[in-house]
Amino acid sequence: MNDRQAEVEAAASAIRGGGLVLMPTETVYGLAADAGNARAVAAVYEAKGRPSFNPLIAHVADLEMARRIARFDDRAEALARRFWPGPLTLVLPAGDTEAVCDLARAGLETVAVRAPAHPLAHALIEAVGGPLVAPSANRSGRPSPTTFADAVEETGAAAAAALDGGPCGIGLESTVVALLDAPRLLRPGAVTRAEIEAVVGPLAEAEADAKRSPGRLARHYAPNAPVRLDARAPEPGEAWLSFGPGAPGPYNLSPTGDLREAAANLFAYLRAADRTGPAGIAVAPIPQEGLGEAINDRLKRAAGFVG
Ligand code: TXA
Ligand code: MG
Repeated sequence: MNDRQAEVEAAASAIRGGGLVLMPTETVYGLAADAGNARAVAAVYEAKGRPSFNPLIAHVADLEMARRIARFDDRAEALARRFWPGPLTLVLPAGDTEAVCDLARAGLETVAVRAPAHPLAHALIEAVGGPLVAPSANRSGRPSPTTFADAVEETGAAAAAALDGGPCGIGLESTVVALLDAPRLLRPGAVTRAEIEAVVGPLAEAEADAKRSPGRLARHYAPNAPVRLDARAPEPGEAWLSFGPGAPGPYNLSPTGDLREAAANLFAYLRAADRTGPAGIAVAPIPQEGLGEAINDRLKRAAGFVG
């Protein structure tokens, strides 16, 4: 066994014992626990300071494991085949409700499921042999951690083990799509609306009902400093999250104007800017196309506007 395997095995045994593990994924770091262990799931909510009506995503190794916990129709199959493993979460009618306990689903008869692409996440789920809940590893209402150090700072104290996967490649959470009636976009994310619509046709908007995807609550992902959007320039005392060619650093989300790079930098730069203790954080306009929809969604929440 090499060091990595030994680390994964130790983390898996922490999970089996009801402990929590900091788990890297391709989107953001998660705080993982056995989805079937209500005590462990309660410890996750507690570590995050999260309102317990907010349901969690069950992370699976593959479609086969997903089929044990959720009921797939043709549309769900098609989306899973196209985007898994990867940053797409499907909300489906729940299957085996023991493998994903009531508390993890916040009492709903639906379950959110995704197969992460990160090799360490995949190895951990395989080693445990069942689904893991893993909300983003931030304390509730704070930006999601995209580096190992940020994850440790947020909820490391509650974790029995931590897997260092380096910085997250995507840096923005998974897209959440519900397939209960019409396909519905509950949370814009790393897979764009256009990519999903190419598989299942037009997406209905999320209902105003926040219980369906409380990730859509206002003032989510917020740093300490107030955030000002669509700013042309910083006011005195403000930190400046700029975007595009020729815009000044140190927090230029993408000097080449690449939305993928901006997504990867978003949370880390919000945190870094916030750490300088500014009067506020001014953010340049970000185009509302492709990944820009998800970036602007997170920025609106950071600024405290209802989505
Ligand atoms: O990229 C991600 O999805 C990350 C990584 C760690 O996998 N996880 C993540 O989990 O962002 P979390 O718990 O921070 O966000 C889960 C989102 C929330 O918006 C939640 O409301 C929604 O999924 N969700 C979970 N179960 C649901 C359900 N049964 N019905 C509707 N929405 C659900
Ligand atoms: Mg989150």
